[in-house]
Amino acid sequence: MDTLTHLPAAEDIAAEWDRRAARPGLTRVMRASQPTELAEETTARTRGLVADYLRAVAPATALEIGCGMGRLTPTIAAHARDVLAVDMTARMVELARAACADLPHVRFLHAKVQDLPRHAPRFDVAVCVWVLMHVLDDAELATACQAIAAASRHLVLVEYEHAEIPVGKYSRLRQLDDYLAVLPGARLLERRDLHYGGDRSFAALIALEDAR
Ligand SMILES: C[S@@+](CC[C@H](N)C(=O)[O-])C[C@H]1O[C@@H](n2cnc3c(N)ncnc32)[C@H](O)[C@@H]1O
Repeated sequence: MDTLTHLPAAEDIAAEWDRRAARPGLTRVMRASQPTELAEETTARTRGLVADYLRAVAPATALEIGCGMGRLTPTIAAHARDVLAVDMTARMVELARAACADLPHVRFLHAKVQDLPRHAPRFDVAVCVWVLMHVLDDAELATACQAIAAASRHLVLVEYEHAEIPVGKYSRLRQLDDYLAVLPGARLLERRDLHYGGDRSFAALIALEDAR
């Protein structure tokens, strides 16, 4: 894992996500420098990957962490009867709510993953795609991972491991092992690679033993 010395302040991170929420289309949640067709094709593959892992878990309840504009929320909603989608950016939550207007079993919460309330019983699965790479501080990441493990029995986690074009100051490259090390009771069930332009993400299905 790389070492960062100067991290943006919490208010700068929040302002950056407000700015991104005002961008057009998929550039709100994907690299603005990539062609639209590639973003759409990668989105279709990401939905397929998430759906494969959800079929393996067969969840009744699902938690989406960092739902953004709701790019993946309907896919998750097709596999669970109760979905809670969480994001720290109010405008993103609004967009996701609009994307799920015809899905009454999807609820929304405007919150940081670090502040997720304990959930009893735990969700069957949490889905977190390109979110924890934006939790820059290691202590905050550990808090976020503890909150996820306390809230869910499984985790579908997709994060960048390698970037061909260097990521900016609001993203941080970590390896799957870095996340497994701070997810309490984590057991890797399966991993695949997801390529987007020159970037490589891992897509992992992780069981989370109840560490409480
Ligand atoms: C790159 S977007 C990905 C959105 C969605 N998962 C997707 O794949 O389309 C990252 C999202 O995570 C949200 N986010 C970033 N840090 C967060 C945190 N600490 N807690 C909750 N949401 C966060 C941002 O507001 C943004 O909507």
